[in-house]
Amino acid sequence: MDNQVTLKIDNISVSVKQGTTLLEAARTINVRIPTLCHHEDLCVAGNCRVCVVEQSGSDRLLPACAIPAADGMEIHTNSLKARNARKQIIELLVSEHRLNVPPVIRMGIVNCKACRMSILLVKTGTSI
Ligand code: FES
Repeated sequence: MDNQVTLKIDNISVSVKQGTTLLEAARTINVRIPTLCHHEDLCVAGNCRVCVVEQSGSDRLLPACAIPAADGMEIHTNSLKARNARKQIIELLVSEHRLNVPPVIRMGIVNCKACRMSILLVKTGTSI
């Protein structure tokens, strides 16, 4: 299939349609990457960098929601470097946001950034 790319995410081989983001590719194999600014119904912004992942052979971290999967990539979603970067990003974001707002959860979806931020704090073990 010409329009497919094959890569490894957390040592799991996955083939996806060309143009699929790293985040979408990870989700097809049930690898969860935290997100904040990403929403399926909106265009890709890639602003918050909470979804950063590490690529073998590269010093740069990649925002999984904005980078298309490419043949031969080896992506690590849970490396120490990626986790530490997420933690720092979340600490920086939290320092500028109010977290004591009432939760807004509709049909199991958290709809406000402050609530999603609170969840990310717990998931990443970030203290404020
Ligand atoms: S979720 Fe914000 S940059 Fe990817």
